[in-house]
Amino acid sequence: MKGVILAGGSGTRLRPMTKIINKHLLPVGPFPMIHYAVSKMAAAGIKDIMLVTGKQSAGLFMEYIGSGSGWGVRLTYKIQEEAGGIAQALELADGFIQPQDKFVVLLGDNLFEDGLESAVRMFAEAEQGNAMVFLKKVADPRRYGVPEMRGDRIAAIEEKPAYPKSDYCVTGIYMYDSNVFDKIQEIQASERGELEITDVNNRYAAQGMLTYRLLEGWWTDAGTHRSLLEASIRLSASDVL
Ligand code: TTP
Repeated sequence: MKGVILAGGSGTRLRPMTKIINKHLLPVGPFPMIHYAVSKMAAAGIKDIMLVTGKQSAGLFMEYIGSGSGWGVRLTYKIQEEAGGIAQALELADGFIQPQDKFVVLLGDNLFEDGLESAVRMFAEAEQGNAMVFLKKVADPRRYGVPEMRGDRIAAIEEKPAYPKSDYCVTGIYMYDSNVFDKIQEIQASERGELEITDVNNRYAAQGMLTYRLLEGWWTDAGTHRSLLEASIRLSASDVL
């Protein structure tokens, strides 16, 4: 399996720091945020990783991660010109991901405790054409993309629903094969002008091909000042580095 880390975006909720530096280089505990995504992939045995980021701070990512040899992985870098959405960033991995490949996608601001090893192994053996998303039980699902589960599949994902159909949110950890690039071609930009990963995932869901795994340990999306602080406290005190 290969890996794709998405670390572009505009980080508006973390201004003013993100006016001068990419969100994924901000400190979380002892490391810049991007460290954790690379470490998670390396720990799961993923050796070939593409990092997609914007123009801002691009050189700093290379300074910190370099070739990836410090983690025993190989890094390839790709620039997303504008923050046109998660699915647009993912599309840039087409070519790095070959037709027969399966891969893990991590949003660089998702920090979590669980290891990915067993899910990677399971997905490697799963039927071609399926996708998998990781879910986390949350206190207030209305703030997130919420799945409606039907057996071992997701029937649909609703963004910020007033009446959530489950207590789970869809996290920024996904597994796909190269079919995802066809699905990205099929979607249109949303009202906010972005190619939305939820629209891609809903295409799989509509075909009964979206499976899921539940995260058991803590999970946070460090996209706001409060969640960044919480993540920093957890990762300063933990040994899950
Ligand atoms: P978001 O948190 O949805 O967007 P953002 O990082 O631009 O922040 P804000 O909403 O505060 O403006 O992004 C989730 C993850 O996806 C994050 O790790 C960055 C990545 N991403 C990209 O790589 N490219 C993009 O165009 C977008 C929108 C996000």
